[in-house]
Amino acid sequence: MTVPSSDARLFDVMYTCRAMRRLKPDPVPEETLLQLVDAALQAPSGSNAQNWRFVIVRDRAQKERMQALWRKSWNFYLDTVAAADARPGEDLAARKRMLAAASWQLENFLDIPAFVCVCVARDELMAKVMASPSTMMKLVSHFGVGGVARLATSMGRVGGLADGATAYPAVQNLLLAARSLGLGAVLTTQQFFLPGEFEKVLGLPPTVTLAAIIPVGWPTGKFGPTTRPDARSVTSWDRYA
Ligand SMILES: Cc1cc2nc3c(=O)[nH]c(=O)nc-3n(C[C@H](O)[C@H](O)[C@H](O)COP(=O)(O)O)c2cc1C
Repeated sequence: MTVPSSDARLFDVMYTCRAMRRLKPDPVPEETLLQLVDAALQAPSGSNAQNWRFVIVRDRAQKERMQALWRKSWNFYLDTVAAADARPGEDLAARKRMLAAASWQLENFLDIPAFVCVCVARDELMAKVMASPSTMMKLVSHFGVGGVARLATSMGRVGGLADGATAYPAVQNLLLAARSLGLGAVLTTQQFFLPGEFEKVLGLPPTVTLAAIIPVGWPTGKFGPTTRPDARSVTSWDRYA
């Protein structure tokens, strides 16, 4: 695919790449959606396995199935996290605006042109090597019995992190590409509350992890600057503080 030309410079794009949830029903051309996938594919991946998979949902019946699940998870979120006290320094009015936009998204789900589902397929080579008896011997010789025991207890977390570590750089590339092309998008993870359910609708095999569902379309509003903390306020030097 050819490298897209854009007048928007990287930092301008990055600093105005807000979550855009209110989207017009106007279709997004297939080539443009593939352009987003192509940008995502330029990301790094663990062991350079490049094991991303994308399912782009445009079909109304599929959207209806996803909306039904989304409604369940979003209502749970509204009832719990959304209703919780403010975090230190959190602007509750901003939270309210975000919740209103996300609720709008649910109600207008069927009119959103496309949902890009970003997935990570199991790295079969890595899985085979890790399952081999000779690897167990090597683990012990490299890390010691204690190290292997610690690794065994953190395997689930590490496995999830490893999938995410491959998925989310691609997701961010996709979001930046969308912003650069004037498309609205937002990283969503409603599937986390309903394990296996979105995966079933999408027909994902058990070896494929669904990392993000990204609604994409032309925004109804304007892109604005993000609101983030000062870099110094979240940085320490040499040791965590
Ligand atoms: C891990 C993660 C999960 C998210 N899940 C959702 C989601 O399920 N639904 C949603 O509307 N936004 C979701 N978001 C988007 C955040 O709400 C958004 O990035 C945040 O509000 C900042 O928005 P801003 O860039 O417009 O300031 C998620 C973001 C991240 C990083």
